[in-house]
Amino acid sequence: MNRQVHLKSRPVGAPSPTNFDIVDAPMPDVSDPESVLRRTRFLSLDPYMRGRMSDGPSYATPVAVGATMCGHTVSEVVESRNPRFSPGDIVAGYDGWQQFAVSNGADLRKLDPALPMSAFLGVLGMPGMTAYVGLLDIGQPQAGETVVVSAASGAVGSVVGQLAKIKGCRAVGVAGSPAKCRYVVDELGFDACVNYKADDFRNDLRNACPDGVDVYFENVGGAVLAAVLRLLNRGARIPLCGLIAEYNATENTPGPNLRPLLVNRVMIKGFIVSDHNDRAPAFLQEMTPLIRDGRIKFREDVVEGLDAAPAAFIGLLEGRNFGKLLVRVS
Ligand SMILES: NC(=O)c1ccc[n+]([C@@H]2O[C@H](COP(=O)([O-])OP(=O)(O)OC[C@H]3O[C@@H](n4cnc5c(N)ncnc54)[C@H](OP(=O)(O)O)[C@@H]3O)[C@@H](O)[C@H]2O)c1
Repeated sequence: MNRQVHLKSRPVGAPSPTNFDIVDAPMPDVSDPESVLRRTRFLSLDPYMRGRMSDGPSYATPVAVGATMCGHTVSEVVESRNPRFSPGDIVAGYDGWQQFAVSNGADLRKLDPALPMSAFLGVLGMPGMTAYVGLLDIGQPQAGETVVVSAASGAVGSVVGQLAKIKGCRAVGVAGSPAKCRYVVDELGFDACVNYKADDFRNDLRNACPDGVDVYFENVGGAVLAAVLRLLNRGARIPLCGLIAEYNATENTPGPNLRPLLVNRVMIKGFIVSDHNDRAPAFLQEMTPLIRDGRIKFREDVVEGLDAAPAAFIGLLEGRNFGKLLVRVS
């Protein structure tokens, strides 16, 4: 059987386990002459999936009610009729929340076996690429500038701050607990990290950015954005990557005061990583040695078994993950 997690109903506000259905489906059909059957080794859980659970206006098509939840995967080929793939190959795909998948292989990419396979879902995958494109192409950090990033201990934010350091910037993280902040500074090498849940967050942030903020890599929105806006320098850039604080909102949240954007000629640019696929070769070429040499570190939060995926995903939207959230499916 092929265990799958389906979207059972669309959540209103925060998702709950009742929005998911765990199903034992028949094994996929491998009769196609090119078919590549693979077993999921790792499934990535990412904030964007909250958007796919809703059918409101978006840049992407939602998951249909009753369909398997979508998601990036790293899998092992178990059977192949396609000469490009052999059993045992480790491949990246977009197979979703399920144990097995089949296709003609056009949607698969063989992975470098010298690197940990799970890294291709995080630091060397979509989140890493998001950090790379958003920071370097949109943020355009210059040595000596201050880069602030929210959700700093997470998949995207952790890479943003480490790349900022490599580019000679002051890297300041914002994260949701003292443990996350300690990790960001002590392990990842950021210059500072501020807990946005602390009473004195606004002052702490100001103290961490004595020269103001030149690049704010925006991952959360809400109160964190409002606090950073007050510190922006003239000509600051905001790669607007995500607004996770608002993903479960059922009403419009009161907007921040955008006046600092006007008076400081700030550029704010929304972007979607999939528009920048031409940057993938450069991303992999620059990042691979940094990972291999340990100059960019990464942390993974691995939950065991596909059945744990719904609760883990719900936790992601509440900050319960600590590092790149992954499901070890098999
Ligand atoms: N534009 C794109 O193409 C693109 C691509 C990938 C990701 N993204 C966005 O990048 C952001 C980070 O994604 P990720 O994959 O790196 O996730 P992640 O940081 O590994 O995990 C999500 C983190 O967001 C924080 N968070 C959750 N709820 C929050 C809230 N209500 N207020 C403030 N922070 C909250 C939590 O950290 P704390 O405990 O520190 O709050 C949580 O651990 C998300 O907004 C995501 O949508 C955008």
